[in-house]
Amino acid sequence: MGSERLIIFDTTLRDGEQSPGASMTRDEKVRIARQLERLRVDVIEAGFAAASNGDFESVQAIARAVKNSTVCSLSRANDRDISRSAEALKDASRARIHTFIATSPLHMEKKLRMSPEEVLEQAKRSVRFARNLLDDIEFSAEDGYRSEPDFLARVVEAVIAEGATTINIPDTVGYGIPELYGNFIKNLRERVPNSDKAIWSVHCHNDLGMAVANSLAGVKIGGARQVECTINGLGERAGNCALEEVVMAIKTRRDYFNLDVNIATEHIVASSRMVSQITGFVVQPNKAVVGANAFAHASGIHQDGVLKARDTYEIMRAEDVGWAANKIVLGKLSGRNAFKQRLQELGVALESEAAINTAFASFKELADRKSEIFDEDILALVQMEGAKT
Ligand code: KIV
Ligand code: ZN
Repeated sequence: MGSERLIIFDTTLRDGEQSPGASMTRDEKVRIARQLERLRVDVIEAGFAAASNGDFESVQAIARAVKNSTVCSLSRANDRDISRSAEALKDASRARIHTFIATSPLHMEKKLRMSPEEVLEQAKRSVRFARNLLDDIEFSAEDGYRSEPDFLARVVEAVIAEGATTINIPDTVGYGIPELYGNFIKNLRERVPNSDKAIWSVHCHNDLGMAVANSLAGVKIGGARQVECTINGLGERAGNCALEEVVMAIKTRRDYFNLDVNIATEHIVASSRMVSQITGFVVQPNKAVVGANAFAHASGIHQDGVLKARDTYEIMRAEDVGWAANKIVLGKLSGRNAFKQRLQELGVALESEAAINTAFASFKELADRKSEIFDEDILALVQMEGAKT
């Protein structure tokens, strides 16, 4: 052991819900929050309490239901939002207020219509206000990655001095490239004199398909020790960093990251299914870790390898993330070994190797006509060949 912990901050219920069409009821959110707690997520962002009465009630219900994870509520950098968050979190065992303001020139000028000095003052003021209500305060510099580093460093230094305990530097629009984003975080930390007084966090969007890679670079190069992510990568536009991918990357490549995560990975697939069912967002079959094909082998060469030693073509074990087993999919690419193994699993005993060869030849013929061969097809086929079952 002796390695550091990486904090997993799940925002399925807040940023995930910002996926157009993914809104969830309060009860659905509580079910997901309980599942996230079972998954041993460190921080659950339950919602944005000031956004609506419904959101307030969801945050409150989750704060009451969850005991072992920190429950967090997002707030803009103003007293009203922060007070609503604190009120909704009142009954939580562990609570965090997350407050944010945009720091990029584009957002400050065009969206907020505020000068950089005004933004700096508002960031300080809001963290000071939040810190009077709770001890665990996260500050996010929205569009942080497109911010001017000198200014951003001043904001971060000031909010840490006001008591922020986590500093999050989002790539709000998914513009980052892993090496550049990782170095951005590293350089920023080096510029901030009190940087070691807070935990640094990354929050990456997936507009260019690099949210997971950017988050991992923020950890490895930048030294971030919190990753913000969502189940199935749900989130605004193209989504956020996928929890299942980032967690399994850290665990599978522990040789490289030398970090521990507290996630109970055997609950990953059930969590993915639950979020997919509740939101109606289907998980693509070839999605890493949680897609139906993530541990399925179709080609004869791969099937033969996996039947001899699973690690020939599997870098993780299906069972470790909650699948019952890996899958050997029988079809036209399958080899004799996979076919023979399936016969054994089905309790079919053919008399001789020659009988197996004959049955295999019929199987191949059928597979040319039918894309996937099911167990019923095999049973019918060997009965036609007159085999003993
Ligand atoms: O993407 C983003 O910048 C956010 C912040 C509010 C953390 O979601
Ligand atoms: Zn976001």
